[in-house]
Amino acid sequence: MKSIVIAIDGPAASGKGTLARRLAGAFNLPYLDTGLLYRAVARRVLDHGADPADAEAATEQARTLNRVDLERDDLRTKEVDLAASAVASIAPVRAALLDFQRDFAQVSGAVLDGRDIGTIVFPKADVKLFITASLDVRAERRFAERKAQGVATTLEAVRADLAARDEADRTRAAAPLRPARDAHRLDTSTLDADHAFAAAAALVNQALSKG
Ligand code: DC
Repeated sequence: MKSIVIAIDGPAASGKGTLARRLAGAFNLPYLDTGLLYRAVARRVLDHGADPADAEAATEQARTLNRVDLERDDLRTKEVDLAASAVASIAPVRAALLDFQRDFAQVSGAVLDGRDIGTIVFPKADVKLFITASLDVRAERRFAERKAQGVATTLEAVRADLAARDEADRTRAAAPLRPARDAHRLDTSTLDADHAFAAAAALVNQALSKG
């Protein structure tokens, strides 16, 4: 099979991770959750007792990031959510993570999900998807996940955190969250996971048959 790159972007809890993992399985492609890179940088900055908004400290951690940092199980805490959003707004941090993301797809193609995959990391991706869902739907999903993890929180608190993070991701100067001009949009407030997958898989098959 031709090796292809599938770029999947969208806000937090839009369902892009679920879709990306499923496409990777179906088309036998490696999968990279690029949010983990920013989370791992943030975790390392916090471990060093530095401020995630400190560009020099964060860039140093991004430059020396390695694969094992991505396997830590403490990358999805609320503290890391906030710190990751902060380090992600620092342009040199983003620059330091570009090669890692591009190299990942070098050998066999890949599915990558994030915020700027179709716009900056792989502007020539074979398939670009932009996944959205209403804030209410995303908050319900994230709240259910947090509850399942045993985290004590409220729907209102989760909604406020998501809204704040989205605002930061959309309005930052460095690689803001936005759909690429040639991205296909899927709204998972109205499409369930199976329908979103079917629509995305049809686009991937189209790209494969073109090559
Ligand atoms: O998808 P996530 O919630 O794990 O992402 C964590 C943070 O990293 C979030 O604030 C957005 C940012 N991010 C980014 O700026 N670019 C990416 N390609 C992926 C994530």
